[in-house]
Amino acid sequence: MPRRTPVHTGPRLPLVLTSDGDLLDDLLRLAAAGGTEVEVVADPAAARSRWAAAPLVLVGTDQAQPCLRARLPRRPRMVLVGRSGLGDPGWELAELIGAEHVAILPAAEPWLVDRFAEGTPGATATGTGRVVAVIGGRGGAGASVLAGGLAVTATRGGLRTLLVDADPLGGGLDLVLGWEQLEGLRWPALTEADGRVDAPALVRALPSRGDLVVLSWDRGALFSLPGEAMAATLDAGRRGRDLVVVDLPRQLDDSAVIALQAADQVYVVVPAELRAVAAATRVVAATLPHCTELSVVVRGPAPGRLKAREVARALHLPLAGTLRPEPGLGRGLERGEAPASTGKGPLASLCQRLLTELDDNASAAGVA
Ligand SMILES: Nc1ncnc2c1ncn2[C@@H]1O[C@H](COP(=O)(O)OP(=O)(O)O)[C@@H](O)[C@H]1O
Ligand SMILES: [Mg+2]
Repeated sequence: MPRRTPVHTGPRLPLVLTSDGDLLDDLLRLAAAGGTEVEVVADPAAARSRWAAAPLVLVGTDQAQPCLRARLPRRPRMVLVGRSGLGDPGWELAELIGAEHVAILPAAEPWLVDRFAEGTPGATATGTGRVVAVIGGRGGAGASVLAGGLAVTATRGGLRTLLVDADPLGGGLDLVLGWEQLEGLRWPALTEADGRVDAPALVRALPSRGDLVVLSWDRGALFSLPGEAMAATLDAGRRGRDLVVVDLPRQLDDSAVIALQAADQVYVVVPAELRAVAAATRVVAATLPHCTELSVVVRGPAPGRLKAREVARALHLPLAGTLRPEPGLGRGLERGEAPASTGKGPLASLCQRLLTELDDNASAAGVA
């Protein structure tokens, strides 16, 4: 019998959002027929932290209006489900909340069983790529450099990696890698083609070298990234890559929230300075409600001798690691050398350790 299963870092289950007991009974029976357990939540507030990461979301017609009011971001593979004979099936609401289909039971039962079967954890359709996100505690903290370093290090270690630039004001993550001349799609071109992003097609279309693929901004006009584009990209990344690294903006938009929700681990980078800690306090307060695993990376130098563990304690977060000053790194970046590309130095070592820990956590949760 499928159960209500709280999942934080383990395999992702389809999410059912309804407070209609009869509808829930039907959906649990269909999920069992499709061979999967599901997570059940009764209202949008409870759904929020699972929303982006679930491989499939079923919203009962009773919760369509609350979903709309709660402004849950649009996402792929979301289905509005109702039972026949209960009046308006909600086509209009489906459109408004961005549902891909409206399934009316009992007619849609076989179709739903198939969807559950596709969404079973471990099936290749759901993807097993891990997602990490990096955010700066203040401007110029070193978040983009850490994101680049993690992606370069993961690729050197044999992981098929997607590096996603989610910061429209960051200047372009392709520049951090020295990849600005590389051919391939950037966000503006990708988001013109709305909707589902197919993993192999995405990977082929983006600038890449070896096993590292980058989705970055170009130097054109500024625009905000649609949440759907981010959701589709993360989905494609999880299916087609071993690791997705997202470089987040400090001002959270819909896309950033989706990435935070999808992330297995989020790092906030904070320089070891009092004012940086004050700024980071705000960033952490805005970030924490959207993610399950947030830890801090403290970057030196510490002009006032502030200790890394004091920074972590002030932010009430676990300390993921520290970065000693690495003056050669700034020079290398100016010359177009990707961070951590030599595999040596404080940044490369930290990235190696963080990736190993991520791997260990995944093994412990049984999803490696
Ligand atoms: N680990 C590091 N060691 C030395 N300098 C760094 C490091 N990380 C960042 N920097 C310097 O700080 C600048 C800003 O870093 P960046 O990653 O772009 O910050 P953020 O994305 O947090 O705004 C870089 O251009 C580089 O000169
Ligand atoms: Mg940045």
